[in-house]
Amino acid sequence: MNNSEYVKAFAPATVANVCCGFDVLGFAMDQPGDEVWARKSDTPGVTITAIEGITGLSADPNENVIGVVALKMMADLQVQHGVELQLHKGMPVGSGLGSSAASSAAAAYAMNELLGQPFTTEELVVYAMEGERKASGSAHADNVAPSLLGGFVLVRSYEPLDVVHLGVPVELYCTIVYPQIELKTSLSRSILKKEIPLKKGIKQWGNLAGLITGLLKKDYSLIGRSLHDEIFEPERSVLIPLFNKAKAAAIGAGALGCGISGSGPSLFALSASEETAKKVQQAMVDVYTNSGIALNTYVTQVPEQGARLLEQPIYQSAQKHEVL
Ligand code: HSE
Repeated sequence: MNNSEYVKAFAPATVANVCCGFDVLGFAMDQPGDEVWARKSDTPGVTITAIEGITGLSADPNENVIGVVALKMMADLQVQHGVELQLHKGMPVGSGLGSSAASSAAAAYAMNELLGQPFTTEELVVYAMEGERKASGSAHADNVAPSLLGGFVLVRSYEPLDVVHLGVPVELYCTIVYPQIELKTSLSRSILKKEIPLKKGIKQWGNLAGLITGLLKKDYSLIGRSLHDEIFEPERSVLIPLFNKAKAAAIGAGALGCGISGSGPSLFALSASEETAKKVQQAMVDVYTNSGIALNTYVTQVPEQGARLLEQPIYQSAQKHEVL
């Protein structure tokens, strides 16, 4: 069975939370993303034979998210043969761009294809969530669901899991600025208070409802008015250098809103046009100029499609992205 063709899957980076939707809202990006290649093997269990584009990740299938996802799928389906996996990282870890989610989603997608498509893409979300549990100690779905499904995705409920695919109802451009410090999701979650004051809760669910309504009604003003997070952003933003200045610069340059991407340290800003998104990018980059902090930055649309199969590998090493 060795040396058979690899199934190659790509899954994109994602922005989770989107300000007011902590753990329940996320959207996919065009780029960057991760690839997982999978093929059958005579060696029982899961073997990770290559990890490219990044150093320091474990190749132990019980420690690497792609192995964890594959092992869970094989156990549930009682797969007898072995599987060989390769991970090609196109994005840094600890960036707030859903790095572990992209690997987990690509693994679930590649494995599903290799095993004859026993699951729908929606059904793969629970498997990819196992990768998130491994990476951060929390099986949140607001990165893996949009990475698998594309567009915007609402996680209406975790128990039972109810994932609502909103697609891309309105044209939006996303500016990402990643100040290159590593911030682990587990740390960024551990500092959060466990209780929410009622007043702040009321604001937050008003904004979440407003944001989703704004997306569906294509109402940019409502989207802009709703992109706020007064609960988690104040607690987390202290971990992100120059956050307040960069956010103010983004809004000043015309962004509809700006916040922390996932658990940080990346910032995201949404704009109604590509031209504005590029101005926003420049304004945010200017804030970091001469700060001694290296940046990765992207301007991306929200794509309809999430994880997909590849004929040709498209990954670029996470270490090769342009540093401004
Ligand atoms: N919703 C998660 C969090 C996303 O904010 O911790 C992590 O990328």
